[in-house]
Amino acid sequence: MLWITRFSGFFSAALALLLLSPSPLSFSTVSAIRSSYPDADFRESPTFRNSDECRYSGEDSGVCSPYYVHVAITLDIDYLRGSIAAVNSILQHSICPENVFFHFIVSEINLESLIRSTFPKLNLKIYYFAPETVQPLISSSVRQALEQPLNYARNYLADLLEPCVKRVIYLDSDLIVVDDIVKLWKTGLGPRTIGAPEYCHANITKYFTGAFWSDKRFNGTFKGRNSCYFNTGVMVIDLKKWRRFGFTKRIEKWMEIQKIERIYELGSLPPFLLVFAGHVAPISHRWNQHGLGGDNVRGSCRDLHAGPVSLLHWSGSGKPWLRLDSKLPCPLDTLWAPYDLYKHSH
Ligand SMILES: *[C@@H]1O[C@H](CO)[C@@H](O)[C@H](O)[C@H]1NC(C)=O
Ligand SMILES: *[C@@H]1O[C@H](CO)[C@@H](O)[C@H](O)[C@H]1NC(C)=O
Repeated sequence: MLWITRFSGFFSAALALLLLSPSPLSFSTVSAIRSSYPDADFRESPTFRNSDECRYSGEDSGVCSPYYVHVAITLDIDYLRGSIAAVNSILQHSICPENVFFHFIVSEINLESLIRSTFPKLNLKIYYFAPETVQPLISSSVRQALEQPLNYARNYLADLLEPCVKRVIYLDSDLIVVDDIVKLWKTGLGPRTIGAPEYCHANITKYFTGAFWSDKRFNGTFKGRNSCYFNTGVMVIDLKKWRRFGFTKRIEKWMEIQKIERIYELGSLPPFLLVFAGHVAPISHRWNQHGLGGDNVRGSCRDLHAGPVSLLHWSGSGKPWLRLDSKLPCPLDTLWAPYDLYKHSH
């Protein structure tokens, strides 16, 4: 079974490149891309060095060094350009870039050589996330991209990452950070397990179906909780508490219910809302200026929310690299472009 999954992964990557390409490609070109893709397409990033004020992180203790800021990002073949731009943006705005440790979650192919050649000095570890872990729990959603197994990897960070990693910042692949990530890292979570910007004016009702709200087994879930919407693309996670309270299993329980009852329409977000809404440590909105990808259907252009900006997030169906390539970018997409390391861009 496994090789079939892998093969279809290659195939969809080739297909994505076909769709991105302005001119028709012959089949032999497709196989050439397929075999050369992991090494060929990204420029090497500049080397980012710690400034004098940084405490040395100590290479000997490796991933367990107490000075590291831990960041987890997935590397998906379709979002690779976004993930690489995100890493680039973090390094560019860090005073102590050598103190950032990246945990890359991969599924279908080995992208380690690509990421190492793009960022030769990066502190990193690659983790393999088996799609089979979550595949049986995924139900169809409004947008196919939301059904990718890697989209659910954020629920498994506590299992995947080294036990000595006690806190991690999880970031989606369609964002850039324009501030020092250490400020986000140092956010206090109080007694909470996760922290994220909350949006209390958003009506949480619409994230769940009539079947959810009319079933007395479910419709009291948010009772007595000051439940606010939050976006799961930027989260600070206390992995120790997560492990202790078994949140992975709690989220999986809701996914099992969803398979049978259809209680929501979106992908990985609603089970997080069910478990955490009302129990989230609020983080400044500047750390997730989300929605820049537009809605889930048309990908229309969006503007920033009011207030300061430390992170721009192209959540929604429109992605800046696709819109820039199509020569029909949204105004804010030009803020993403300087972090792009893709060779064929511009
Ligand atoms: C939230 O949305 C539901 C369904 O669309 C509606 O019935 C309800 O009045 C809304 N609540 C608020 C506070 O706007
Ligand atoms: C929950 O579902 C029950 C049974 O369908 C219904 O009687 C009740 O009014 C619902 N409660 C809410 C808060 O919607």
